[in-house]
This record gives sequence, structure tokens and C-alpha cells, in this order.
Amino acid sequence: MSLPVERPHVEPDFKTTLDLGAVLPCTAEVKDGHLFIGGVDMVTLAHDMQTALYVMDEAHIRKQLRDYLEWTRFHWKNVDVIYAGKAFMSIAMCKIVDEEGCCLDVSSGGELAFARAAGFPTDRIFAHGNNKTVQELKEALDAGVGRIVVDSFEELERISTLAIERDMVQSVLIRVTPGVVADTHCYIQTGAEDSKFGFGLRDGLAMRAIERALELPGIDFAGLHMHIGSQIFALNSFAKAIEVIVHFMDDIRKETGAAVRELDTGGGLGIAYGAPDQPSSIKEYGKVVVDDIKAHCEDHGLPVPRIMVEPGRSIVANAGVTLYTVGTVKSIPGIRTYVAVDGGMTDNIRTALYDARYEPTIANKADQARSKVVTIAGKHCESGDIIVYDTPLQPAEVGDIVCVFATGAYCQSMSSNYNKQVRPGVVMVKDGVARLIVRRETYDDLLKCEIF
Ligand SMILES: Cc1ncc(COP(=O)(O)O)c(C=O)c1O
Repeated sequence: MSLPVERPHVEPDFKTTLDLGAVLPCTAEVKDGHLFIGGVDMVTLAHDMQTALYVMDEAHIRKQLRDYLEWTRFHWKNVDVIYAGKAFMSIAMCKIVDEEGCCLDVSSGGELAFARAAGFPTDRIFAHGNNKTVQELKEALDAGVGRIVVDSFEELERISTLAIERDMVQSVLIRVTPGVVADTHCYIQTGAEDSKFGFGLRDGLAMRAIERALELPGIDFAGLHMHIGSQIFALNSFAKAIEVIVHFMDDIRKETGAAVRELDTGGGLGIAYGAPDQPSSIKEYGKVVVDDIKAHCEDHGLPVPRIMVEPGRSIVANAGVTLYTVGTVKSIPGIRTYVAVDGGMTDNIRTALYDARYEPTIANKADQARSKVVTIAGKHCESGDIIVYDTPLQPAEVGDIVCVFATGAYCQSMSSNYNKQVRPGVVMVKDGVARLIVRRETYDDLLKCEIF
């Protein structure tokens, strides 16, 4: 069967690993032909642990969290950074987020359970989801989460009822869709008017939600939330949405007299997946978000609220790589060469889902030039089970360790057990030490929910 989409012709680029620049984790180095991350030899690690294996660079994660704190608070002291746990969540990750003084966004009861198991302070948790179940809302209230980000009228009523039953008041943010179409893949645009998320500004839906929040007992209207999409390169998409939402804050004051004390502008900053990608820096992003909010508030004579940003991908994506072992190399003359590895769409669905592109290298040939063009295929029963289509790579042989970069976000968290594949383990590397933070699944794990 032919590949589903016509693709541009690709030539070898003769790059060696370190030429891949911004795609790499910040501690990547090459010694004696081997790729090292966090001071750990990826080839030895792959041989010691089983592949497929996710590897996360702790220094990179901490640097990104610190950069967000530094470059947002540089412009306004009252800013919080909320890590979006959906990008990659584990107990170790929750602890790092806590240690760095950031907040945490959870988008299901399961993510809340992880945060609680990690001992994350619940008052710094933001609970998301466009259709939280009543059970999830109960769990959020009982845990004492800091804010629930409200997505529907039904949810407002449910929170009010549950809060009254518990004799408490729950602080909420109202999620607004500002009607801005972000410059990104349509599957990850969320701020347009036609979206399953949030309340639109047209037809007064968002204003009605705020009026309802203000009148309902058990609810404290703390402010607004928006998230216009993910993997966004154009900062003017954020700027446009901020202009719209601050204007709306003014409307709220005029119509209800209520103040928006908090404004959460969501996540979405893009990252480099491919060598040509040139995303904006956290420093540039922080300036646009915070300065624009301040400037528009000043124009409208509004007090500047507590500002929150909610990054996921830009914290963890480039920190993570996936290691695989080459099992077969199949050349179809005049067509293409398939290098098949011991993972695939179960550990990285993004290529099948979004036609995502990645940069690979061979970790045991990291100083060699990528002189061939191959397609890196997975081991699953789907033609679309491809990790990277037509990519430059060093000449691949059976037993080589392929390292795919920028897989730290939305890979492990979107992984599956299709074909009853066990999910890979996750190793955190730092200062020459490899720490297993999520063990590889076993067949017993796969069988544990079966009723015999
Ligand atoms: C509400 C919300 N906040 C934050 C994020 C994180 O976005 P990103 O990983 O692009 O920074 C998402 C991603 O889908 C989201 O839905």
C-alpha cells in the first residue's frame, strides 16, 4: 500500500547531530561518536534499559520553567506559571514543577490523582476540561483545587450545587473563546468561535456566563481564561487575543461592575521540531503577553490583574527524546527505504494524528553525517504507523539506536496499548545520572484489568 499523502522530495542534509540546534535538549553533546544527554550515554542507556525508551533532560525542563518565571515576572511581578500537565505528566514531573514554584493544570480526574499522589499543593492546581464529570468536579472540590476553569453553563450550576453541599465557595475562571484563529494546525486551534471549548464572545454567551457566576451561591468569580491553540509561532495571534479579552474585561466592568482579578492567557508557544523551525523565545513571548495586558488595561483604565500563562509543550517537548533499536532495514528499489524500530504510533501518535515532523539521529553514529534518506516506521499493524517520513539519517543497520528528538510533549501522554504493546519506560537524566521515573509496562500490566 502506498503512503497516504504525497510528500516533498527530501535530500540527505549531511548534518551531524549537533547541527540540529534548537531541536536538541540543552545538555546534548557528542563524545566518541555517541550522543549524550544530561551527561548520560544514550547508547549505553538504550542497551541497559529496554527500548523503546523515553528520556527526559531534567536540566532542560527546569531551565524552561525558570525562563517562564523570569521573563514574565520581569515585566509584572504578579504572574504565575501554570505547567499544563497534559503535555507530560508523572510523579517526578509534578515534583519538579512544585520545586520550581509553578502551578499545575490538570485536565481530568486522573491527572488530578497524579498531582495529589505527588503531593502537589492543591491550592496551586487549576482544573480544566470541557466536560468534567460530576465525579471529577466532586474530586476537585474535595481536593481543594485553587481554581476550576469553567467551560459550560451546566458546569457552573453543578459547581454551585456541589459547593453549597460542602458549605464552601469555589473560585472559578470562565473560559472564553476570543474568536482568534491561531496560526497552527486546525486540530490544535481552540480559540476560534467554532470550538467545543469555552464561551464565545459573540451573542453575549461569555457575558451571560459571568453574570450567572456572579449570582450563583458557592461560586467566586475570580477571572477569565483563554487558550487559543498550540504550537503557535506568530506572537501576533497572542497579541490579538489579548486585545480582545482585555476589551471584554472592560465590558464586564461596565455591565456587571465586577472586576477581573485574574487573567489566564493559556499556553501554546511553539517549539522547534525541525531544524528550520524558528519559534519565538520565552523572553519574546513573556514581553508580548505581559506588556500587552498591561498596556491594554491602562488604555481602558483597568487595574492589571494577576496574570497566568499555561505552557506545556514549550516546557517539555525539546527536553525529551525517544530511543529505539533498529530491527529491520527494508529497501524498496526506486521507492524508499523503511527503517523499522521497536516502537511506533503507540509511543508517538503525533505523526499519524497531525502529520508531525521530527528530526532523528543514530545515537551510536552521532558524529556522522545524515547521508541517506529513509522513512522510520513503527512495528504496528497500520500503514500510517510511521514516526518520521522521508528524513535524512546516517546509514542505518540492524541494532543501531535511533534517537528521535523533541518527543517530550504529547507522546508519552498520548501513548496507547494498541496491538497490546507495552508502553515504554521514562528515564530522567541529569549530571551523568539516569533515574527511572516511570517503569516500562509488563504483560501483567496489560492483563490486570481483565476479568478471568
Ligand atoms: C487549556 C490549555 N492550557 C494549556 C495548554 C498547553 O498548551 P501548549 O502545550 O501548547 O503550551 C493546553 C493544550 O492543549 C490547553 O488545552
